[in-house]
Amino acid sequence: MNRPDTAVPTDDFDPLATEDFDSAHAEYRQLRTRCPVAHSNAWNGFWALFRHADVVAVLKNPRLFITSVQNVVPKVAFTGRRPPLHLDPPEHTPYRQALNPFFTAAKMERLEPAVRRITGELLQEFIDAGGGDICSGFTHRYPGYIFAEFFNLPPDLGLAIREVTAIYDRALQEADDDLVRETSLQLYEVARRIIAMRKAEPLDPADDVTTALLQRRYRGALLPEDLVLGTIRQMIVVGMIAPSVFIGTMLLHLARHRELQDELRSRPELIPAALEEYLRLFTPYRGFARTARADVTIDGRRIQKDEPIALVYASANRDETVFPDSERFILNRPNISEHIAFGLGPHRCAGEPLARLMLRVTLEEFLARTHSFEPAGEVRMTRWPEWGTLAVPLSVTAA
Ligand code: HEM
Repeated sequence: MNRPDTAVPTDDFDPLATEDFDSAHAEYRQLRTRCPVAHSNAWNGFWALFRHADVVAVLKNPRLFITSVQNVVPKVAFTGRRPPLHLDPPEHTPYRQALNPFFTAAKMERLEPAVRRITGELLQEFIDAGGGDICSGFTHRYPGYIFAEFFNLPPDLGLAIREVTAIYDRALQEADDDLVRETSLQLYEVARRIIAMRKAEPLDPADDVTTALLQRRYRGALLPEDLVLGTIRQMIVVGMIAPSVFIGTMLLHLARHRELQDELRSRPELIPAALEEYLRLFTPYRGFARTARADVTIDGRRIQKDEPIALVYASANRDETVFPDSERFILNRPNISEHIAFGLGPHRCAGEPLARLMLRVTLEEFLARTHSFEPAGEVRMTRWPEWGTLAVPLSVTAA
């Protein structure tokens, strides 16, 4: 039963509660039945949608539910507008038109050998050491290496992006706010240096995303340089956090399920299907936010214009009315394509093909280079608005 429409919003759940691996999903399971449109008093109050149908309905109506006011709960202190996530169509469109050609199947095929080399080298260090915490040993470091390749960076800038992203990522998840502020500014500085380099010496815009953004025109004018800067910065942050919290979670599940681990190791052709099920089950971006431009009623609850609404993708992907036996890992679910780990609508993840490439290659290389691996200590979880692991100790036997 949903709660009645009330003038004073209730405090239905606490996103700041300490969590273990299972607690958030156990609570969401209850909320989907008892209170699928919930209000929380945290961060000055916000609404949260927990059912798949409600989340999808909002994502399919971007004219009513906009992103430009607040794209996440809690609202992040503004260091500048960062397209494409902070803009609504039509202003959002030219940024996606500039980015999308860099994530085609052909582009991913060209990138794959470099991704495989980087992934293999980093994982081998971890394996040679007999394991350790996969998050600090691999996942927090990994995206920076991939970005250095994706942005065609020379060695000095490649090193800068690798160092800053690894520290920023960890600081964000450890809630070390001072370090987040400091490294956030450093990330802007890295993005500024990338832009200055491409302005001085442009590359072929078909091969270089920064050059393509700098040369893109919208309504006759070049895109404003501060928004190109914001776009680079946005891609780095949004493209770094999800893989880094998700990889540890997947590997923990495989460490705990030896039969599945052995099956995927001996039949790597099953890995893409396993990855898809992991994205559903362990959705790393718990949710992004929208703001309604008019008063709306969802499942009987009145949400006023301008109130923030978190769309809890992680809960929607375990909605048992869409995914039967939703808490279980089931390979080759017939309707797996209905998961919304990458969102839906105009803001659907721009980097989805690159994310899939990085994650698939990580699974392939880790399984191929190991004989077995198992849990080896206390797991720590990250926090809202991400869901996933911050520390996963593994002990590893090399192949
Ligand atoms: C496990 C990996 C990833 C997941 C689960 C993921 C998920 C998402 C989701 C759910 C959104 C939609 C935000 C919304 O609804 O408001 C999004 C947006 C975005 N993602 Fe990803 N992402 C991943 C990796 C990446 C990577 C590797 C990149 C690229 C370098 C990337 C680039 C972006 C960008 C640029 C946007 C903004 C799109 C827009 O506003 O039009 N993501 N991502």
